[in-house]
Amino acid sequence: MLEPSEINVQIAAAPFLRWSGSKARLVSILERSAPKTFRSYIEPFAGSACLFFRMRPNRATLGDINPEVIDVYTAVRDNPSEVHRYLASIPVSSDAYYILRELDRTTLTLEQRAAQLIYLMKGCFNGVYRTNRKGRFNVPLGSRIYAIPTLQELRAASSLLHGATLISGDFQAALADVQPGDFVYLDPPYPTTTRYRGEYGYAARFDDEDKRRLVAAAKQLTERNVNVMLSYVHDKEIIEELEGWSRMYESVRRTVAGGVKFRTDINEMIMTNYRTTS
Ligand SMILES: C[S@@+](CC[C@H](N)C(=O)[O-])C[C@H]1O[C@@H](n2cnc3c(N)ncnc32)[C@H](O)[C@@H]1O
Repeated sequence: MLEPSEINVQIAAAPFLRWSGSKARLVSILERSAPKTFRSYIEPFAGSACLFFRMRPNRATLGDINPEVIDVYTAVRDNPSEVHRYLASIPVSSDAYYILRELDRTTLTLEQRAAQLIYLMKGCFNGVYRTNRKGRFNVPLGSRIYAIPTLQELRAASSLLHGATLISGDFQAALADVQPGDFVYLDPPYPTTTRYRGEYGYAARFDDEDKRRLVAAAKQLTERNVNVMLSYVHDKEIIEELEGWSRMYESVRRTVAGGVKFRTDINEMIMTNYRTTS
């Protein structure tokens, strides 16, 4: 009898991180709106990197200001079996969730930390990554723990990630080596209307100054013949600044805060600095 790890089924790479703000529901329209050909794919606000996993580019750069996100991709790229071994050893239960959440990350290996984050995100309330001011993940368990990725799924992700440069840091760092003919997909956090409570971690707060830096970067990329697609909420300032860009809207059901009764339709805005064929 074969061991499960010996059954080598070819499956396509797919997102394995559950992530609030993921563009899973928008990914088909994003894919249709992307340029048909490009040199390299750059996603500076990667999160669960839905569009990267949908487009499966040979050459890519993924960035995120949250180092844990980049560490997960590094661990899965370089050692999917070890990440899976740890994941498979964690019971699927609420006790296990809270024990894992309280583990001191500094005592864990890269692969153990990756398994910890993948598991916690599968179980946490609304898939929200949130930390306290000391940087400790503090999201309670949600209604269920979603399916943990299989070894085959992590291996498929690993082989796609082998073509990717992974950059932990501000979006500017992921844009540093962009060349004419590249395709950049920008998906920054939406503005926070209430007091910031650590969503995406304290370093990942995205304020008006960050928005201005992003607009300036988008203009510079346009001057350098880089194809850019931006997804955001409707924003008059951005529309005025990025005059001449194509724009479309897509209504998507989202959980805004705190559970089912706060689910609402959000009009997502997609802007491109090139003409789309969709
Ligand atoms: C809306 S989410 C991206 C979701 C992603 N497109 C997906 O499909 O899962 C925004 C991401 O930007 C990251 N982020 C926030 N501020 C950033 C910054 N200044 N530079 C780079 N990444 C940042 C957050 O950690 C978060 O993962």
